[in-house]
Amino acid sequence: MTTVYYDSPMSDDERRARIYAGDLFVYSPRESVREYVRFTRDLIQSAFGTLDPEHAQDDMSVSDFATLLGDLKPRFIHHPDSKRHLQKIIAEFGCDLQSTYFDVPRLRSSTSNNYLTTGIAYAWHPHRDTWYSAPQCQINWWTPVYDLDARNAMAFHPGYWNHAVANDSDGYNYYEWNKRYRGPSVSKLISEDSRPLPRATETVQLEPQLRLICPVGGMIVFSGAQLHSSVPNDSGKTRYSIDFRLVHVDDVAGKRGAPRCDEQCTGTTMRDYLRGTDLARIPAELVALYDDASAAGGGLLYQPA
Ligand SMILES: [Fe+2]
Repeated sequence: MTTVYYDSPMSDDERRARIYAGDLFVYSPRESVREYVRFTRDLIQSAFGTLDPEHAQDDMSVSDFATLLGDLKPRFIHHPDSKRHLQKIIAEFGCDLQSTYFDVPRLRSSTSNNYLTTGIAYAWHPHRDTWYSAPQCQINWWTPVYDLDARNAMAFHPGYWNHAVANDSDGYNYYEWNKRYRGPSVSKLISEDSRPLPRATETVQLEPQLRLICPVGGMIVFSGAQLHSSVPNDSGKTRYSIDFRLVHVDDVAGKRGAPRCDEQCTGTTMRDYLRGTDLARIPAELVALYDDASAAGGGLLYQPA
């Protein structure tokens, strides 16, 4: 059974415990999120100039669109204001900044009608982030930049919570990914995408699925082990969303989190997270709890150009 908590007053400790049991949280708009959305919209709009970002795909070639996103997304991710906004959001949602670490936020886009579904605007097949070297204690926070539509949202497949899905995550190593597949070349992948993205190797029953629709300024919170996918977008509009991931240092140290059921990837994203107060990395002795032999090969941390 999966429970969706709406505007729950739960503490962060209680919330994480529920998320590690497979539950989902949805929140109404909050001022810190609204502020970040305004900042994000300004950045997006300045990239598109006079075009409406949700409809720009109708007026641009796919390669121009991919090039624009390939420039916009890293600027958003690494913008110093992005980190300040995240600190405010994390605090407003009751997380202890001293104990909570965040990964840099991502700006995602889902184009309509199969305009661009590879590379920089990848249309996500059903996956768990824990197939991609995220720890079991990773919690994903997701918020739309423009009004969501059930036709351009994200889908959850909670029937697969703690239920093994045959998958090829054994071919994924996070450090190889950092060395070979991240960076500006992603925006060149406009017709096919040969990157080794772990996926189910059995047929996933996409129904029943759950689409949570929150207003702009709202938030959807879920475990990185939750099976989720991009909805095939036929809304006529490009969807833009922000997501970031949190880990709590006590859960890192105690190896608490969602149950493992089918993860076979190697490496860990544990070095990516930044402390809410001062952006310090997770202490090396805690990261070491998650290391495997592949850590000897370099690529532990992605260094953007
Ligand atoms: Fe994901």
